[in-house]
Amino acid sequence: MSPTDGPFLYDNVSYQPSRSRKKRKKHAPSIEDSAQSRLDRTIAELSSSAWLAACTTLLKQGLSAFGKRPSEILCLGLGSPCASAEARRQLCFLVHLRDVLQICPQNVLACDPIFSDGDVSCLRQCDVVQLTDNKMGKYRLDKPSIAFMPHCTATLYENLLRENWSTACLSNIVVIGNCLAEYVDATPVRKLQTEYPCIARLVPYLVVHVFPAYAPHAATFFNTAVQFAIMENLPAENDSFWDLPEASLVHADDGEIR
Ligand SMILES: C[S@@+](CC[C@H](N)C(=O)[O-])C[C@H]1O[C@@H](n2cnc3c(N)ncnc32)[C@H](O)[C@@H]1O
Repeated sequence: MSPTDGPFLYDNVSYQPSRSRKKRKKHAPSIEDSAQSRLDRTIAELSSSAWLAACTTLLKQGLSAFGKRPSEILCLGLGSPCASAEARRQLCFLVHLRDVLQICPQNVLACDPIFSDGDVSCLRQCDVVQLTDNKMGKYRLDKPSIAFMPHCTATLYENLLRENWSTACLSNIVVIGNCLAEYVDATPVRKLQTEYPCIARLVPYLVVHVFPAYAPHAATFFNTAVQFAIMENLPAENDSFWDLPEASLVHADDGEIR
């Protein structure tokens, strides 16, 4: 991938004041700060962090309570790894998840309508498959799966849950993303009932393991948690809990949910 594929980011690179054209030629940097080297630096930073070790322990504890071994990761709303250091760190975390859970690379799928050609090359370098079928979050998860959705909008979570609104499907899903309870706390009751009924109904049944803050870059994994429902606690299949109101319409001509 060429470094011109995405905006050049300066994280971990010291700023050099601009020089005259002549001098610039003479002192042109010999090592290009390519997308690959940015990824490599991010992987090195994350993998040496105590934070990653702590999250891995939390994840394993959570999965042991979940009781199934995920064989797939669906990643939604990653953002642009070329243009955003947040997205790049989250991509490295996704790769870590895959490796630590020994999930086959072909079962690690990522969809975000903002992916550029450079982002797609980045995904390819990381052995992550780009999912081109944008279903606005409405993916049916028929096998035990992790939905990795860092900082997605409530609508995207809602669409995923609605598409999987049965004990059979919900029993397959571990969400690694925003604490869903925060959406409930932040949204007026009426809006919750009409626009986010699945989130509102599911939250009381969720087991939640909140990741510690990632101190060097707190925004990247802010409010991120491993979450899944305890099936035995969910209402019986004939309970009104499972009857949802009509889905509210989301207009997104460009496939992007805001
Ligand atoms: C708030 S941003 C989060 C970006 C990044 N994960 C972060 O934490 O900085 C939400 C992301 O959801 C993505 N998104 C919007 N609609 C989507 C869709 N239909 N499927 C997947 N991702 C979508 C947006 O493009 C955006 O990158």
